[in-house]
Amino acid sequence: MKLSAVILAAGKGLRMRSDLPKVAHKVAGKPIILHVIKAVKEAGIEDIAVVVGHGREIVQEICSGEKIRFVLQEEQLGTGHALMQAEAVVAPEDTILVLAGDIPLIQAETLRKLIKNHRQKQATATVLSVNMRNPSGYGRILRDKQGAFLRIIEEKDANDEEKGIKEINSGIYCFSARKVFSALHSTSTRNAQGEYYLTEALELLKNQQESIGIFLSDGEEDIYGINDRVQLVQAENILRQRKNRELMLSGVSLMDPASTFIDSDVLIGHDTIILPFSIIEGNSRIGERCEIGPGTRISDSIIGNEVKIESSRLIQASVADRCNIGPFAYLRPETTLQEGVKVGDFVEIKKSTIGSGSKIPHLSYVGDATIGQGVNVGAGTITCNYDGKNKYQTVLEDRVFIGSNTNLVAPVRIGENSITGAGSTISRDVPPHTLAVERAGQKHLPRRG
Ligand code: UD1
Ligand code: CA
Repeated sequence: MKLSAVILAAGKGLRMRSDLPKVAHKVAGKPIILHVIKAVKEAGIEDIAVVVGHGREIVQEICSGEKIRFVLQEEQLGTGHALMQAEAVVAPEDTILVLAGDIPLIQAETLRKLIKNHRQKQATATVLSVNMRNPSGYGRILRDKQGAFLRIIEEKDANDEEKGIKEINSGIYCFSARKVFSALHSTSTRNAQGEYYLTEALELLKNQQESIGIFLSDGEEDIYGINDRVQLVQAENILRQRKNRELMLSGVSLMDPASTFIDSDVLIGHDTIILPFSIIEGNSRIGERCEIGPGTRISDSIIGNEVKIESSRLIQASVADRCNIGPFAYLRPETTLQEGVKVGDFVEIKKSTIGSGSKIPHLSYVGDATIGQGVNVGAGTITCNYDGKNKYQTVLEDRVFIGSNTNLVAPVRIGENSITGAGSTISRDVPPHTLAVERAGQKHLPRRG
């Protein structure tokens, strides 16, 4: 029996009050739908179809790296109608896992347990249910006297007694594909919302004496659906706590988890410590024995081992072992620091490579530069890389010493072991082993008044 999955994500999510489709909203740095796809893949399912409708170009774009199939639901006529659209892309002999695309807290483990239960009982359909302290808004599970599945009643169709039931439908199911599609063809829209309910298919199958299982899960959190921005931030908090916990258990120290924000795909080596008010985003990777923060934001950057970064901002930068950055440094895209580089306070670097052991300790702008090894860039050095139209390269060869407050007017190359005098504006190439000075001689005039 092959396993495949269908994720329902065609709805608009009106309560988000957004131009974006609901599943495109980010939680813990990643669109909701990608959290769901990740859990499904981790549960061992490769063959995934996503039903799209509202904002489908946006959803398809977000999922473009994921090797999944898209199914279009032109008009959103209900969850049953949504699943029906996938009939053409699912093999009838498959077992299908069906779930909503708006449940970013779902974990692979929960899905695995559901699938296992469905298979063990050889059921035609199994619904994952949860006992909720506050079940309002969810469909309720109705059981017969023996505790077997009877049907699911939506809140809007329920009477007061039914509304009192705490066991709810998570919206996550396993089905025999052939049987659920066949049942879906017989569903109607005779209900409070005038929609084709996926839940009705379970009732129809039950009436055909098919076996319908209920897998009661204890993970209330897992199936938490996002409908508005209040719930979005609640999910965000839970995901962040999970990530922080996972990191701490794997050997990373967080001085204050409450003020530490680490996206779910970030990797951090053991014995690294993250100090308060730090944000680590996207696909960042940080090595071992580093000290990050306080007050540091790192996005999509690769950091080696034993690196210190204090009160700084890094975007798409690459930092080798034993570098020391900040406080108050700004490393922009395509910055590469080789081993043991020091970048100090109020230094901005863009699209540049800094050779191992080099230092840019204070108050500098370095853009479009290639800096060799053992170079010292004095305080207040500026690469003048832009003439208003084009950007030009600056090259500092190995062991160059740039005097304080030097302007390097690109394109310009300073040969190895050369020195520039403080305050010089260097606009011509300097050969190796040379002192280049460009400044007017000092005058002493009598002071008047
Ligand atoms: C559904 C269940 C309810 C369950 C709840 C769990 C039905 C009838 N009800 O209700 O029992 O407790 O989920 O969260 O199934 N979608 C489409 N196309 C549509 C309609 C919905 O793709 O035409 C997608 C939505 O984008 C969403 C998912 O299906 O991701 C669930 O739809 P939603 O309208 O939120 O269903 P609920 O009313 O919450
Ligand atoms: Ca919902």
